[in-house]
Amino acid sequence: MASTLSDLTQLAIIASAFFMPVFTYIYFTRSQQKKSSAGPLPASTEITALYIHPIKSCHGISVQSAKLLPTGLDLDRQWMWVTYPNYEFLTIRNNARMTLIRPSYDAKSDTLTVTAPAPDSIDEKLEFSIPAHPSEEWLNKNTSTHDAKIWNQWTPARVYSSDLTASFNAFFSKEVRLVYKASLYDEPRPLRSNGTPNVLGRDASTCFPDLMPLLVGNESSIAELNTRLKAAENLTIDVRRFRPNILVKGNPSAPWDEDRWKTLRVTPKGQHGGKPLVFDITQRCARCHVPNVDPVTAEEHKRQPWDTLMKYRRIDEGIKFKPCYGMLCVPREAGKIKVGDKFEVVEVTDKHRYIAGF
Ligand SMILES: *[C@@H]1O[C@H](CO)[C@@H](O)[C@H](O)[C@H]1NC(C)=O
Ligand SMILES: *[C@@H]1O[C@H](CO)[C@@H](O)[C@H](O)[C@H]1NC(C)=O
Ligand SMILES: *[C@@H]1O[C@H](CO)[C@@H](O)[C@H](O)[C@H]1NC(C)=O
Repeated sequence: MASTLSDLTQLAIIASAFFMPVFTYIYFTRSQQKKSSAGPLPASTEITALYIHPIKSCHGISVQSAKLLPTGLDLDRQWMWVTYPNYEFLTIRNNARMTLIRPSYDAKSDTLTVTAPAPDSIDEKLEFSIPAHPSEEWLNKNTSTHDAKIWNQWTPARVYSSDLTASFNAFFSKEVRLVYKASLYDEPRPLRSNGTPNVLGRDASTCFPDLMPLLVGNESSIAELNTRLKAAENLTIDVRRFRPNILVKGNPSAPWDEDRWKTLRVTPKGQHGGKPLVFDITQRCARCHVPNVDPVTAEEHKRQPWDTLMKYRRIDEGIKFKPCYGMLCVPREAGKIKVGDKFEVVEVTDKHRYIAGF
């Protein structure tokens, strides 16, 4: 009896020695398949444009290089117009003319100059200038502190004097204030939505963008959208309507490949050294009607590209009532980023799902 048992045990040992590798093989093949269900990694490409939008909802600036801060590109959405006395954000969603407010940056004097067409005049301009990187001392002297509201989130901000911005009350037809987020020395604005620590895996913050520090877009997708708009309404739009920060070159054969990007790596071009920068994609960017506004003229198209996007870009299970363009992301480190830098997708996923954030 005892010897039969030991025979059985031996048999079991032999059997498991044979089957274990088989099961292990099946297990790994399946998990490999699971991993690759998001598809292979796209070929590496390069950054073709960088945009900063110093004042939320106002005109953007195309730049050749930019400093990357943990909160986003330096000078991007660090300023914002708010109502007075409520300190609630003013947005292009309600006032398309905000895109006529043009910030410009002078590197030599490190100054941001803000202009806008004066009401009731063809050639007059409203204008003021402020330090682009104000010291804490300058801010303490020239600004006051007040919380400002973006969507339903209050965050501390520096408020410029009403004297400085007074001429812009006429532009808005109401009393307004300009506020600033000193990301270096003031309380950060923690990320919400897919950027909370339990989803992202770490604490991260930004200045005044709606949701995340950066928006990355792929040129191929705009090209594909434009073929549809051309066919539907003889219309071609500029990617700047989507207000991306980083634009990459695509390959027109399979547009919207960015929908599955998960982790990105940007490597400096040439010999100036510098380590690669890594970015975590948090989610797809769900769009509102803002891309219907021409950023140069502030004219708002009644239907496009909204109608076209609604037909085929409602692709995120988490936000089915909005179309998506571009990917929102959070940098892992600070550094410098340039047009021409190598851009790689190092991880893809089929698990993106938008978590409402406002
Ligand atoms: C900032 O404060 C300094 C010192 O009080 C003053 O000289 C300067 O004009 C102020 N600048 C602005 C733009 O208010
Ligand atoms: C399409 O638009 C272009 C530029 O606005 C114009 O020159 C052209 O005549 C239009 N074509 C048609 C078919 O309407
Ligand atoms: C950009 O889109 C094109 C077309 O879908 C695609 O071939 C390319 O891989 C995309 N770029 C990246 C970096 O994913």
